[in-house]
Amino acid sequence: MKFPKDIFTEQDADPDTLANLGPLRRLAGIWESRKGVDINPKAKGPERRRFSERIELQPIDAQSNGPQLFYGLRYHTRILASDEDATFHDQTGYWLWEPATALVQQTLSIPRGQVAIAAGHARANANRLVLTARRGDTGYGICSSAFLEYAFRTDSYRIEVVFNRNGSWSYVLDTMLKVRGRAAAFLHRDRNTLVKVAEPTPNPLALLLRKRAATKRG
Ligand code: HEM
Repeated sequence: MKFPKDIFTEQDADPDTLANLGPLRRLAGIWESRKGVDINPKAKGPERRRFSERIELQPIDAQSNGPQLFYGLRYHTRILASDEDATFHDQTGYWLWEPATALVQQTLSIPRGQVAIAAGHARANANRLVLTARRGDTGYGICSSAFLEYAFRTDSYRIEVVFNRNGSWSYVLDTMLKVRGRAAAFLHRDRNTLVKVAEPTPNPLALLLRKRAATKRG
């Protein structure tokens, strides 16, 4: 890991996040699908469920961490099982791109008492992203509530995103769980392919500057 000696001096940021998202540009927008498949741990064994999903990925203003400069998307995903009205899975977080180092990070927060930061590297024009997080890693780790640590310990997380030629994108999420009382690790796998239903809304600063420019013009 190479970080600069000067940890305070910030870089100038471009106000237009959508123009600086590198490989994350193709994730920006609102997406839906009815073709998801989930395999989750139940008392009787693995349960396979079909699900529908809506995910909103909206650009945020550029973020500086001292010399690091990130362009990113804030996301919210809501998943419904095909045969139930109540939310099956809910998740929020950010996807972040650091152009200077080709670093991609995903933060995730799940309302069962769980957060994680996954990371990987990708070219700006990549067709595939792979990000991982591991329990115990203080940088790119997984933090779970006391009950989850006791009963359903999450040891690792991996997401693979593939951008398809028709503009859709697919993901495979692999979460390795250690379920209390079971010897073998459980692969909790989710997959889906998402289709765009709406374009993203530009980030707040880009919108403000456009509005100001329009007012000036008259
Ligand atoms: C599309 C994404 C996902 C869906 C649809 C989903 C769905 C589910 C479902 C239906 C269960 C069983 C719940 C129950 O029996 O009460 C479950 C369990 C679990 N999931 Fe996920 N999950 C997803 C992603 C994740 C991710 C990314 C993580 C962690 C990084 C995670 C961690 C867990 C854990 C720890 C459990 C066991 C807790 C329990 O069964 O009460 N899941 N998931």
